[in-house]
Amino acid sequence: MEPTPVTEVDMECRGRVVRVLLKRESHHPTGSVKDRTARGLLVSLDRTRALTPGTVVVESTSGNLGLGLARLLRRMDCRLIAVVDPRAPEATVEALRSMGAELCLVDEPDHHGGYLLSRLQKVRQLCLDNPGYRWTDQYNNPANPAIHRATTGPELFRGAPTAPDAVYVAVSTGGTLAGVAGHVRSVDRGIRIVAVDAEGSRSVDEHGGGERLIPGIGSSRRSAFLHPGSYDSVVKVGAAATVAMCRYIRQSTGLCLGGSSGAVVHAVLADQTGPGAPRRPLALCADGGEKYERTIYDDGWLERYGLADQVADRIDGYRAEGVVFSLPAESGEHHRGSDMHIRPPGRLPYGAPMQSRDDARAVVRRIWSEELFVEHVELYDDFFDLGGDSLTAVRVAFRVQEEFGLDVPVETLFMAPTVAEFIGALSSLKSTEHTEPFRSSGEAAR
Ligand SMILES: Cc1ncc(COP(=O)(O)O)c(C=O)c1O
Repeated sequence: MEPTPVTEVDMECRGRVVRVLLKRESHHPTGSVKDRTARGLLVSLDRTRALTPGTVVVESTSGNLGLGLARLLRRMDCRLIAVVDPRAPEATVEALRSMGAELCLVDEPDHHGGYLLSRLQKVRQLCLDNPGYRWTDQYNNPANPAIHRATTGPELFRGAPTAPDAVYVAVSTGGTLAGVAGHVRSVDRGIRIVAVDAEGSRSVDEHGGGERLIPGIGSSRRSAFLHPGSYDSVVKVGAAATVAMCRYIRQSTGLCLGGSSGAVVHAVLADQTGPGAPRRPLALCADGGEKYERTIYDDGWLERYGLADQVADRIDGYRAEGVVFSLPAESGEHHRGSDMHIRPPGRLPYGAPMQSRDDARAVVRRIWSEELFVEHVELYDDFFDLGGDSLTAVRVAFRVQEEFGLDVPVETLFMAPTVAEFIGALSSLKSTEHTEPFRSSGEAAR
């Protein structure tokens, strides 16, 4: 899994400028933070009992998790039944179909005005009727927060000159926030953690209820993963404020964020007016806005749900208060947690040539063993040098044993690399050969 990039945005409010870090999870293969969750859930399912071709996996999803599951399951010749509701964006539903998922639409709202409880009832029924079906259960499976503790959390601190002093995360199952919080608390208890929920949601308390329009954020029942220590404060954001923020950011910066990300940035802005306002807030942006063109970014949709005037008023309000978003000229997007954090072995300077086979071997091991899903790295061939006192050529050939028992053969030749070049080349090799992997490697293995 490649680390997602962070885009810096200057947010001006009442004459004060704060640089906000947007961690953009839309850069995952199916476009959301749920690609991480899908991996974590499937690995845990596979560990309980191997996923074999033909296995049927069932899950209730607002759409994004379904996409992540569909992508991985298709590569293993397994089936996915995605239980969705009418709020799943059309674009997501189309993508799910094209990825081979079977869709089961639940259109009966539950008694809290959402669909989650009805979707869960459907999943239980499907599993009762078909005892061979496997349920990933994103709502209760500890693998959900665990994957975010192991990957999302650490990425927030990698490679950046200054760590965030506050982290804002949207909640539905609460898995992302619980995992991120677990890591952040272990690093620095002073970092503020803010849960961003939808108005009418019951994710973090039992007081909510009512229709919610923005998919992905909020829930009809309390998160099984969150407890009061998981966050320092909660900001509940309504649909109009969410949509207004998405649209305002797009107008001023061109960045097209998904609904829950708009809510998260709204929470960042709201906190700026209180005492002890964070100076370096990080907003975890769970997905991008492309799939919401026909909802959040569509005027007809706003009219249909009676939101048009409220959204226009909010945007006028931002202008009146001098709220301005802009992309800083000198910074922009950078990757955190890419090869910058991989220390060369033996304290070799980055610019120095690779000097020994042991150094090269150590770099390979270090890079691959950082990948969570790699079970085993076996150097079945070795490096060779062409003489001189540094390695003039390094041939790397080895097998990486992957999650789900897949083998990834890697073989390449580097000419006279410096330490930095070698690390960089191996890292990008890992992302193409290894993390975007399954199709070629999986097919080869079968
Ligand atoms: C767009 C979006 N934002 C936020 C979330 C919340 O994530 P979690 O279920 O981990 O709380 C989801 C979950 O589906 C989502 O799709």
